[in-house]
Amino acid sequence: MSPVATIDDLPPLEHAGRTDRVRARLDVAALIVTEPHDIRWLTGFRGSTGWVVLLPDRTLLITDRRYGERAAAETAPADDVEVVVGTDRPDLRARLVAALAGVGRVGAQASHLSHAVWEDWAVDLPLEPVDGAVAAERRSKDRGEIARIELAARIADRALAEVAPRLGETPTELDVRHELEYLMRRFGAEGPSYDTIVASGPEHAARPHHGAERRTITEGDTVVIDVGALVDGYHSDMTRSYVIGTVSPRQQEIYDLVATAQAAGLAAVGPGVATRDVDAACRAVFAAAGFADWYLHATGHGVGLQIHEEPFHAPTSTAELLLGDVVTVEPGLYRAGFGGVRIEDLVEVTPSGQRTLTETPKDAPCLPSPPTT
Ligand code: GLY
Ligand code: MN
Ligand code: MN
Repeated sequence: MSPVATIDDLPPLEHAGRTDRVRARLDVAALIVTEPHDIRWLTGFRGSTGWVVLLPDRTLLITDRRYGERAAAETAPADDVEVVVGTDRPDLRARLVAALAGVGRVGAQASHLSHAVWEDWAVDLPLEPVDGAVAAERRSKDRGEIARIELAARIADRALAEVAPRLGETPTELDVRHELEYLMRRFGAEGPSYDTIVASGPEHAARPHHGAERRTITEGDTVVIDVGALVDGYHSDMTRSYVIGTVSPRQQEIYDLVATAQAAGLAAVGPGVATRDVDAACRAVFAAAGFADWYLHATGHGVGLQIHEEPFHAPTSTAELLLGDVVTVEPGLYRAGFGGVRIEDLVEVTPSGQRTLTETPKDAPCLPSPPTT
């Protein structure tokens, strides 16, 4: 069971220029970055304690002695990050305040920083809320990032291809989750990109984010499997839906509607398209068929170092898609007593529209019947 590929086979991440692109978005003199995915994207640092300080002409990473050597190694590919190693929290705070002395207006990530830390730092620093500058730059993925997400998608495809044909053998939801997650690791993933969802039957499949329980998957069930892999910190995300045994007319109707909505959503994706229009394309199919109230969530989201990141395909979204965005299109219909169907693909926004990164077939919900013995 060899890996699908390793990250050594992939193009490198393109760290050069990231700090300057974020600086160009700021209308404050300096920014303290505390969100860990933002820190990783800017500098390569993966430790759990660290703050990045974007000064007008320097970038600091303030961390503690557990991470000193590692921080230097991990930030080597990035633009000139100066690693500042402190001892304990008060010492790190003192170094932060010293680095920012006299700089002028200082931005901090209000949507991430706790109220308590904000209040504490504000005693010594002229803090202003600055959100979204790094997230905005993280949206358009470079070649190395796309390659990692694509490899993660390939690993999940391969794991699901092994497991789906055995759904008729009366496994529990947890059996299926564990098998998928084991296989993804064997195929080269660091792990699952989130807790794999295996939602079966009239009640569990009706919950969009069910999880997985000890329930046995049986004939007549709809089964929603939402599975992704993690590669070098990058996520994949995919959902396929199945029916165990003979497909009822109602199950076929719902499956076909979701497939039609998903095709409409995928067709809508392209650079410059309003994300709310991708959502609307799916929602319109459901509304026309009288199923608007079976659709319980938004149509998709960006995927990268986080499983859910900018942009979001929701009715209230104001963003437009950019070249290099990697987003999901994942409509579904859910009703207690029936179960559920969701079809989710992960796509890269390209000049001609989109390129689908998830390859598992989705043309039919049917699976072999369980053994009758
Ligand atoms: N796997 C979580 C989601 O699709 O959003
Ligand atoms: Mn998903
Ligand atoms: Mn998703």
